[in-house]
Amino acid sequence: MDLFSEIEEPEREELKRLRKELEEANYKYYVLNMPTLSDREFDEKMHRLQALEAQYPDMFDPKSPTQHVGSDLGKKGFEQVKHKYPMLSLANSYSREEIEDWVRKLPSNAEIVCELKYDGLSISLWYENGVLTKALTRGDGQQGDDVIANIKTIPSIPWRIERNDIPAFFELRGEVLLPWERFEALNKEREEQEEPLFANPRNAASGTLKLQDPREVARRGLDAYLYYMLGENLPGTTHYERLETAKRWGFHISDAIKVCKNVDEVMAYIAYWDTERKNLPVATDGIVLKVNNLVQQEELGFTAKTPRWAIAYKFPAEKQLTLLKEITYQVGRTGVVTPVANLEPVQLSGTIVQRATLHNEDFIRSLDIRPGDRVWVEKGGEIIPKITGREKREEELSTLNSPTSINSQLSTFNFTDKCPECGTPLVRIPGEAAWRCPNESGCPPQIKGKIEHFVSRKAMNIDGLGEETIDLLYQKDLLHNIADIYDLKLEDIAAQERLGEKSAQNMLAGIEASKQVPWARVLFALGIRMVGETTAKKIARVYTSIDALQWATAEQLCAIEDVGPQIAENIVAYFNDIRNLEILDRLRKAGLQMALSEEEISNLKSQISNVLQGQSIVISGTFSQHSRDEYKALIEAHGGKNVGSVSKKTSFILAGENMGPEKRKKAEDLGIQLMSEEEFLQMIQ
Ligand code: IVH
Repeated sequence: MDLFSEIEEPEREELKRLRKELEEANYKYYVLNMPTLSDREFDEKMHRLQALEAQYPDMFDPKSPTQHVGSDLGKKGFEQVKHKYPMLSLANSYSREEIEDWVRKLPSNAEIVCELKYDGLSISLWYENGVLTKALTRGDGQQGDDVIANIKTIPSIPWRIERNDIPAFFELRGEVLLPWERFEALNKEREEQEEPLFANPRNAASGTLKLQDPREVARRGLDAYLYYMLGENLPGTTHYERLETAKRWGFHISDAIKVCKNVDEVMAYIAYWDTERKNLPVATDGIVLKVNNLVQQEELGFTAKTPRWAIAYKFPAEKQLTLLKEITYQVGRTGVVTPVANLEPVQLSGTIVQRATLHNEDFIRSLDIRPGDRVWVEKGGEIIPKITGREKREEELSTLNSPTSINSQLSTFNFTDKCPECGTPLVRIPGEAAWRCPNESGCPPQIKGKIEHFVSRKAMNIDGLGEETIDLLYQKDLLHNIADIYDLKLEDIAAQERLGEKSAQNMLAGIEASKQVPWARVLFALGIRMVGETTAKKIARVYTSIDALQWATAEQLCAIEDVGPQIAENIVAYFNDIRNLEILDRLRKAGLQMALSEEEISNLKSQISNVLQGQSIVISGTFSQHSRDEYKALIEAHGGKNVGSVSKKTSFILAGENMGPEKRKKAEDLGIQLMSEEEFLQMIQ
């Protein structure tokens, strides 16, 4: 390696890491509805990635998060439809300077329309001959889910417009929102029913829009504001006129829209709405600035992801000072001890905050906080509240006057050294940020957490044994570890106040059924640290029984795909603990699948190669050399997966004669390759 590439290497690594981080953040935001980064953090990482990609053009990747908008595709049950015009995102700005930079690139006479930036999710409404025919989510920007049945529950969205001055087709884009009042009522209801709460109205609106039952959607009470009209032969020469027209046609357009002539006017609008927005019935997280003149808009055009003629200005995250009353600790399933800030309750972006995670000891040290401090709590529109700093302490203020005082250095915060649940001294594994309680088999949240993991859906999938029941049976001394589950007796369970005979029978049926769960899932269910679902599957294919796995060395384990030294050590340590061996022995006696079944083994053996590993293949049409069933078997024998319908995830289509026109069209739209049977046979040769 020459000197230059040595300098470059860390930056190339950083570039790859940022791509991964942003991809993951997009997935959590759009698909899981669980944002992990604030908008600002996201933008900062995105800018850094853009800069690195500019510096290393050889690392260009069309799949990079800089090249496409995040995607919310993948929800079942909705038809995916290609957008007539891609649904893009907006570039963000956070200061007057950034707005000035943007304005400088516009024609000098450009008027700027200021609008509120509604914090919901975007929707594209298609009107054909005055009738609402589609309502598409943004999806990946190119195609979205048609959620029309749910959109029709929104009273302010007309299903039909009866006027003779409307074009044959037009599209209106806007934001779907759950008003604050509805959001709070919904969360209250969920709290009563012990269902997980929505973090903010945006997540609630997004979860609601993806429901399969429009009656439930109607009950929740969504609303929408529209802010962008598209189509051909539309009336008007400015964006403002178009919105006025849409208003006349009966659409719900905000009254807060203003045409500004210069940055001073824009800043005045921002200052006014930063305060006034708190009185609005829906969530907003900024302002959108758009060039008013449509010809100018067209001349400015678009980048790959955003229009050049519009930009968002994000309001600064709301911040409050409050008292850090106490730091308490929570113990998780794996024994990790997480510190939690208990705060004097404070109102922040519409909700009351009284607890916030402090992550780990290093986090507390980096902020240098301790009980009694007044701390800053921050909440972007999206994110769970976090502590970002503290006010100077009185002793520090007096230090300023008398520099000899050393008070502040004397009293620092000490992380607890004992488990708050069982009193065991905590350990900190070198290289890890977390303190852990090592009392795996005696610490209540760890015991219960392990059992909860064992019975969970992706593990042993035991119905009727939920968190509360586990807690109850643990309290009653009936459950101490996962093997105890298989010793539970009908009369013991039925004797419990909240359970009764019927639920006892259900539970026992679930326990019995779990004895058929295959080896790979049993291995995952054991809860060996860092052995997730996929890793367990890979291990189970190599070590086809517990007896084989038990004697594997760390070195041998590392030879398995995805198994690194840390995981290997964890597996070895698991089998070195005699308590685990006793539990495994009891599980085996109870009749659990501790090895691959005959069928699984013969399937493994019939696998000829893995040239198609990880590929999803659709078969369509008729073939001359093999039957469809034979092709299906061939795909599987070479490690691929045969799937029924074409989607974004399809790797390619094995296309015979007379392929269905629908599939062909979909494949074309999604740019999926068609492969002839000859090409296919050659590939797996
Ligand atoms: S205009 C091509 N106007 O913000 C530009 N978007 O962060 C189309 N949003 O995807 C968007 N209020 O979901 C526009 N008044 C407004 C908006 C707005 C909220 C959302 C929209 C967009 C996102 C970008």
